[in-house]
Amino acid sequence: MCGIVGGVTERNIVPILIEGLHRLEYRGYDSAGIAYRTEENVSLVKSLGRVHDLEKKLDKKATSNIGIAHTRWATHGIPSEKNAHPHASNKNIYVAHNGIIENHEDLKSELKSEGFKLYSQTDSEVIGHLIEFYKQRGMDFDSSVMKAISRLKGAFALAVMDKNDPETLIGVRQSSPLVVGEGFDESFLASDIMALSPVTNKFKFLEDGQVVFLSKDKVSICSKDGRAAKVPTKEVDSTAYTNDLSGYNHFMEKEIFEQPESVQSALEGRITNKGTREGIFGAGFEKKLKNIENIQIVACGTSYHAGRIFEYWSHKFLGINCRVDYGSEYQYQEPVKTKKTLLMTISQSGETADTLASLKFAKKTDDPLTLTICNVANSSLCRESEYTLLTNAGPEIGVASTKAFVTQLACLNLLLLTLMQVKGAKPGTIKNIASSLIELPDQLAKTLKMTDTYKAAAKLLFKRHSTLFLGRGLYFPIAREGALKLKEISYIHAEAYPGGELKHGPLAMIDKNMPVIALVPDNEHLDKITSNIEEVAARKGKVITIGPLKKTTLNKDGGHIKIPKTLDLLNPIICVVPLQLISYYTALLKGTDVDKPRNLAKSVTVE
Ligand code: F6R
Repeated sequence: MCGIVGGVTERNIVPILIEGLHRLEYRGYDSAGIAYRTEENVSLVKSLGRVHDLEKKLDKKATSNIGIAHTRWATHGIPSEKNAHPHASNKNIYVAHNGIIENHEDLKSELKSEGFKLYSQTDSEVIGHLIEFYKQRGMDFDSSVMKAISRLKGAFALAVMDKNDPETLIGVRQSSPLVVGEGFDESFLASDIMALSPVTNKFKFLEDGQVVFLSKDKVSICSKDGRAAKVPTKEVDSTAYTNDLSGYNHFMEKEIFEQPESVQSALEGRITNKGTREGIFGAGFEKKLKNIENIQIVACGTSYHAGRIFEYWSHKFLGINCRVDYGSEYQYQEPVKTKKTLLMTISQSGETADTLASLKFAKKTDDPLTLTICNVANSSLCRESEYTLLTNAGPEIGVASTKAFVTQLACLNLLLLTLMQVKGAKPGTIKNIASSLIELPDQLAKTLKMTDTYKAAAKLLFKRHSTLFLGRGLYFPIAREGALKLKEISYIHAEAYPGGELKHGPLAMIDKNMPVIALVPDNEHLDKITSNIEEVAARKGKVITIGPLKKTTLNKDGGHIKIPKTLDLLNPIICVVPLQLISYYTALLKGTDVDKPRNLAKSVTVE
């Protein structure tokens, strides 16, 4: 979603802001803009489309020591230059905003009656006018911002610049992420550290409701009511935040092929072939787990699918009731209060607004033990949760989630093992699972080698309008993830069904033009999914089967993709690789923008 970058520097800020915008591109956006101070004035340049379109419009000789820039992902108003940020008021105040201002209609009417003219269709434009309004009433820049934000409802991260105060930038964080970067005689603001990693490795992670005042050599922070606040500076290994493709064509491709390494990092130091090590979730977690009788998982998109896998594991290996809800639904389905509950959020970014809102809701209405499985240290979910297990996948830039999903599953398996240990499962069973989990990176690496097979499958799909994915048991959430990947990056309509549901509706869709991808396990579901495949084949549907079985009599036209065999509970994780690569190669054949699929954002920071 939208991205902010800003800074006050001794050196020229303009190239830093442009590089920052490039580094925020992965979040998803449709337009971009920059405002920087010149000798006497402020230069404001905006463009529809990509950051390089904005660059083309910039004065090549532009130099400045203070500026803000933004990538916009449209919520209120179409993608257009007018709606792009920064928004200006009276050529004095410039604002870049992430989030949604819920009371913008009321503020618009008020500002119009005060003589302000609104130029855009956005909810964001009111912010700058409101600040300007208070400035016109005699307040200084700092007080005008403080007064204006007290009037705003909703979620907002802001970077604000005042033409008449050329030394200061103001940032605000309210339910939308914002970090401060500190350098030598320079200070920065950004939506995430990715944007600033070339210029600093020292960051302050603002809390909700905090306001930051930046000058070259000073960073001061206070709460919304003006009380001074101390936020520690953390050093981050910024070498991990590279936006280098390392010879791959797309970040998605790179991230798929990084998966053996990423899973290795997720397991590193956390597991031996006897089970998980104590303390990997944080001190005292195991002791608290002893009392747990219910598990509630909240997540969105791909991360939700990881949760659904854990649900099966929890029932089968722990006998603990586990419920999984979408972040956008959890609080609205009026959850029944439960005692002794582990509330677990799963998220790549740690900033997904729906998941975060659910966690806050659960903490307010109940008293669960909270854990997040997350890829971004210091993210909002990590900070709101009592315990965290980082997936250690490394930054995921491709909008379609790949290595984050597979490492989430590895981490969830660590949780399963820890719970089994705590609840007194047989050491032999634990050992069996632990040693198979340790072998997972090698099996993923083998699966990644079969690219020709996946390319051949993609050829069957890329001219079709629809694809059906089938799975049963643990393979059903994986089928859903396969369908999500295909629709996200190739725009082919894809749906996933449990095999047993086929004759309750979707069979009506099957004809010779409908490819079906069936996930075939080597377990008690084999006979039943075989019958489902026969039902499809009898209606001339083309079936591609994927699974650990060596030979199958069930491949119908589409062929069989054999994946390495491991324990039944881990085999679905290996199955993810063919699904990711089939989607990737299908998208290549269709010529879509793989890393930045239309209409999608990487980090969904609005509800
Ligand atoms: C799919 C995808 C999205 C995310 C979802 C949740 O490829 O990327 O469905 O999984 O937006 O995001 P996180 O995991 O950051 O909470």
